[in-house]
Amino acid sequence: MGRVQGKVVIVTGGASGIGKQDALLLAAEGARVVVTDLNEDGGRSVAKEIGDTAIFIRHDISSEDNWKAVMAATHERFGRLDGLVNNAGVLVMGSIEDATLEQWQKIHRVNADGYFLGCKYGVAALKSSGGGSIVNMSSVAAEGLPFAVSYSGSKGSVAALTHSVAVHCKSCGYRIRCNSIHPDGVLTPMTLPLLGNPDPAAVSYDADPTSRFCDPKDVANLVLFLISDESRFISGAQLRITNAH
Ligand SMILES: NC(=O)c1ccc[n+]([C@@H]2O[C@H](COP(=O)([O-])OP(=O)(O)OC[C@H]3O[C@@H](n4cnc5c(N)ncnc54)[C@H](O)[C@@H]3O)[C@@H](O)[C@H]2O)c1
Repeated sequence: MGRVQGKVVIVTGGASGIGKQDALLLAAEGARVVVTDLNEDGGRSVAKEIGDTAIFIRHDISSEDNWKAVMAATHERFGRLDGLVNNAGVLVMGSIEDATLEQWQKIHRVNADGYFLGCKYGVAALKSSGGGSIVNMSSVAAEGLPFAVSYSGSKGSVAALTHSVAVHCKSCGYRIRCNSIHPDGVLTPMTLPLLGNPDPAAVSYDADPTSRFCDPKDVANLVLFLISDESRFISGAQLRITNAH
């Protein structure tokens, strides 16, 4: 028996980086996985690697209609939902002096609105399955990084959203948990270009015990725990993944 045997879990942004590792690890531990992403080639390839227990759905998390379609397709294929990993996201650099309102709104459309919609439709679907777990990907940026003001604002929104959803679901007795994960640096296609595209093995924790960068697998391990029933009494938590930063 796997640690999430038989659970049906949606992973947004499952084509790449952290979401890809989440999907592969959840599947390896027995979950049936709905991989969603804007990146169709990458998402299809992850679903294919998993096999018959996964499907891919093209999904823009900022579209309410797309969320309705994802929930309908998940129900049609698997008949229930047990977990949702709101992971898809975009990063834009820029301080308060450099950022524009357009940039702020564009990043919030995905990282804030997309997670609001995910929680809204996720809670409805999990309620009808009798409960479940939502994992929201925030960041240490929720504390406010000076060089990424719009990204920081959007990840702060994810943290507050998570707590609000967790307390609401608890007070309603839904058995729906909601937690946020706050990584520092993770070596993925989002961050490697910012580092000048080094060999990940040369800059990761394996090579350098003082590194700020972990592997996507280090985040996926926490996602797996939060989706599994091993974390059944953990809700409303903000869990940092950092090297003592
Ligand atoms: N890499 C890091 O250091 C780091 C640190 C903290 C938090 N995070 C967060 O982790 C999450 C995953 O990031 P990653 O590093 O794996 O990045 P990534 O770029 O490798 O993956 C992000 C995925 O999200 C998808 N995506 C982007 N916009 C989308 C949209 N509107 N709808 C659906 N899919 C969309 C992309 O196509 C991509 O496949 C993000 O929310 C990111 O902000 C990353």
